[in-house]
Amino acid sequence: MKGPQMKLARSLVFVPFALLLAIRVVSGEDPAAKLRADADGLALTPPMGWYPWNEFGQEPQNEALIKETADALVRSGMKDAGYAYLGPDEGICFSREASGKLTSNLARYPSGLRGLGDYIHARGLKYALYTDAGTRTCSKAMPGTKGHEFEDMKAFAEWRADYVKIDWCNTEGQNPKQAYTRLRDAQLAAGRPIVFSLCSWGQGEPWKWAAAVGHLWRTTADICGPGKASWSMAMQNAAANEKLYAAAGPGHWNDPDMLITGMSGLGEAQNRSFFSLWCMMASPLIAGNDLRNMTASTIEILTNREAIGIDQDPLGIEGRIVRKDGEAEIWAGKRLFDGSQAVLVFNPASAPAPVEVTAGDVGFEKSVPLYVRDLWKHQTSGPLAGSIRVTVAPNDVAMLRVSKTDSFPLAPIIVADSYRVAFQAAANKSQKLIEPITVRNNGSSALPLWNVRAGLPAWLSVTVGQSGNAQTFSNKVSAAGLAKGHYHALVRADNREPLSGLPMSALYYDVDLEVE
Ligand code: GLA
Repeated sequence: MKGPQMKLARSLVFVPFALLLAIRVVSGEDPAAKLRADADGLALTPPMGWYPWNEFGQEPQNEALIKETADALVRSGMKDAGYAYLGPDEGICFSREASGKLTSNLARYPSGLRGLGDYIHARGLKYALYTDAGTRTCSKAMPGTKGHEFEDMKAFAEWRADYVKIDWCNTEGQNPKQAYTRLRDAQLAAGRPIVFSLCSWGQGEPWKWAAAVGHLWRTTADICGPGKASWSMAMQNAAANEKLYAAAGPGHWNDPDMLITGMSGLGEAQNRSFFSLWCMMASPLIAGNDLRNMTASTIEILTNREAIGIDQDPLGIEGRIVRKDGEAEIWAGKRLFDGSQAVLVFNPASAPAPVEVTAGDVGFEKSVPLYVRDLWKHQTSGPLAGSIRVTVAPNDVAMLRVSKTDSFPLAPIIVADSYRVAFQAAANKSQKLIEPITVRNNGSSALPLWNVRAGLPAWLSVTVGQSGNAQTFSNKVSAAGLAKGHYHALVRADNREPLSGLPMSALYYDVDLEVE
């Protein structure tokens, strides 16, 4: 009865959408390849969260930093805006025993890596860990997975990781596609659905094959050295990533690296522009700054739900530069789930740029009256005929949403109060125990009820009820007839975004039962 109880088989109702995606993804390479996310339903919008590397490097990555950051993420409003995945990067968190098994570094992480995961799950956040496809991680401080893929992925599953970033240092001639495919197989064998983040910095051109292997892949070199945000490197990464727009979509994302928003070295306009560019590229939004010490401006940028809505749009289209006006870039090609279009005018120059965006730039006919929402000023104007005029300050952006109507709905933002419930029951007593998990939708439309996957163990049943924008999963446990011991189930629930009908990322949480 131990281990995840869910089945990965797709239900029939998802098939047409899967086919559509598969056709899009494999247009270059392997026609047999299927999206990894077809089976696990993970990361159907770009993952959002936090990793320590950009700000901290290796020091001080430890349990206190990760826990304080988890608390800061909740307190700052970032959790309510959709950020969920966090954990140590190359944070010296495990070593390998002589037997080959990975063990937690208890000096740095006294609760152990499973204990740290429980802390994160208890706050309604998702647990991210890090490793490497080679023999050692980049600084050589931790073992890599080479030759230990299956036992390492089992350890990550036992620690209850929901996301694993796999780096590409010390790979000594390994082939990226083969190495990452083996790691994918090892993750699947370990039985815990997990977001798989490939980090080969574009080596092996993962945009051509990795949609069948993982959920996101780095397209570029590191955006900065620890603690040193670099505007010019950010611009290089954006330029390289933009060219790959056709490879991105639900469950398979280009990753131009973690955010530098809020790190020292960037002014307010640069922070806003950087965040807008990453949203426009449907990039993973993995913050890299110190969440415990943020200015009001950084919080406002990182939690702008209207900008995040562009990134998290259910259609998952990566925007691109459709035209330049002098140095100013007009980014478009990003239709959104309600039929509106996202537009970004970015001015990288040192003088203000007056720019006219035409209806044609954004895919509308000239004669159609348009409403324009400014996603930083939070103002709607219109109806306008023919074109939109903006003047953009140096290094700044105008981020707009253009629509035929004056309503600008927000796609669902799913926020859970916890991702784990734990029960204790006495053996040989027919106790019935109930523990809820509540999941809110901070988007603007009402969601249908979450649909819990069949295949739960006999000791667990789950029903879902709705009240306003919250849905409560009632987890009912009956320990009658169970022997003493530990029992575990992973509950999966699926849903559809009501306006587009597209599947939403699957929701998973752990249920533990201790029979004593
Ligand atoms: C690589 C990755 C970074 C970070 C470091 C850790 O450089 O690209 O994001 O994980 O390794 O050493």
